[in-house]
Amino acid sequence: MVTNATISDSSIPQLGVGLQFNPEIYDWFPFARHQVDAYEVLLDAVMAPLDGRVVMVPGGAEQLESLAKLAPLVAHSNYGCDFGFDPLEETPAVRRHVPIARRIASPWVSNHCFYADGSWSDIWSSPLQFSRAEVERVGRRARALSELYGTPLAHENAAYYVACPGSEMREAEFLAALVDRAGTHLHLDLHNVYTNSVNHPGFDAWEYLATIPLDRVIAIHLAGGSYHDGVYHDWHDSPVPEPVWEMLQHVLEHTRVGAVFLEFQGRGHHDATRVLDRERDLDMILADLARARRTWDAAYGQRSRRTTRSGAQPIEAREVCGGR
Ligand SMILES: [Fe+2]
Repeated sequence: MVTNATISDSSIPQLGVGLQFNPEIYDWFPFARHQVDAYEVLLDAVMAPLDGRVVMVPGGAEQLESLAKLAPLVAHSNYGCDFGFDPLEETPAVRRHVPIARRIASPWVSNHCFYADGSWSDIWSSPLQFSRAEVERVGRRARALSELYGTPLAHENAAYYVACPGSEMREAEFLAALVDRAGTHLHLDLHNVYTNSVNHPGFDAWEYLATIPLDRVIAIHLAGGSYHDGVYHDWHDSPVPEPVWEMLQHVLEHTRVGAVFLEFQGRGHHDATRVLDRERDLDMILADLARARRTWDAAYGQRSRRTTRSGAQPIEAREVCGGR
C-alpha cells in the first residue's frame, strides 16, 4: 500500500477504476450490470459540428445525463485542435469541449498531445515537436485552456510512429518541461508508452517513467494493441499486456492518481483492426477491469475507490446507452 507517495494534487478526487465511454461500446456494453468507479467521456464523440448553433449532437445531453446517474464522468479530448496552430478561441476545444466538460462537471479534463487543425484532424498519431520552442508555444495554449475549463488539465502522451522533425529532446523530457511551464498535469497512457517502447529502438519504458514527474499524473489509460505489417499498434482491441500491468503497479505505488481508465475499441481506430466479438470482448473487458481494481486496491487500500468507500450507494439497474 502507498504510504509515502507524493500527493499530486489534493483537489483531485480519487475516483478509482473506470471505463472509457466511446461509441464502439454504446449499444452493447451492459453498463447497468457492471459497476465501475467512473466513465471517461470522449468529447469529440458527443460534440456538435462547429457550423451549427448547438454544442452537443442530438440526444447527447440526455445520454450523458443517464450515464452520470451511474458514475462520475470525466472529460477527455482527442481532436480539439488544442495544440495546433489555429487561434485557440476558434478551436473545437474552446467552442465545444469546454462547455460540455463544464456541463458534466468533469473534475479534471485530459487532452491528447497531437497536432490537429482543420487539415490535420484525421491524423491519429501526429506527435508534437519535442522542442524548446514548442514547450513555450504549447505551454501558453495549455495554460489558457486550463483556465477556460476551470479545472486541472492533463496532457496525454501519444503513441507515434516517427518523431516529429525538429525534435530536440525525448518525449518524457518534453512533457516534464511542458507541465512545468504550463502548470498543468499528465494523463499517462501506459499502453502508449509500451507501444513506443516496442516500435522505437532505444525507447525505454522504465526510463520514461523515471523522467516524467509522476506527481503530476492524475489519470492513467490502459489498453491492449495488435501487430499489423510488423508494427505494433495502439488499437485498444486486445487484453492489456503484462508489461503495462507492471508499469501500472509501479506508478500507483509511487503517486496518487484520480482514476485509471480502460480503453476498448475496434474499427474506430483502423480498418485492419479485428472485428469485435461482443461476448468474448465483454469477458476481456471485465477481466482487465477486475485486475486493474486489484492493482489499485493493493496500492491505495480497499476503501479508496468510489464504489468501495463506506456509504457508497449501489447503482440503480437501468439501461442507459442504447443507440441514439
Ligand atoms: Fe489513451
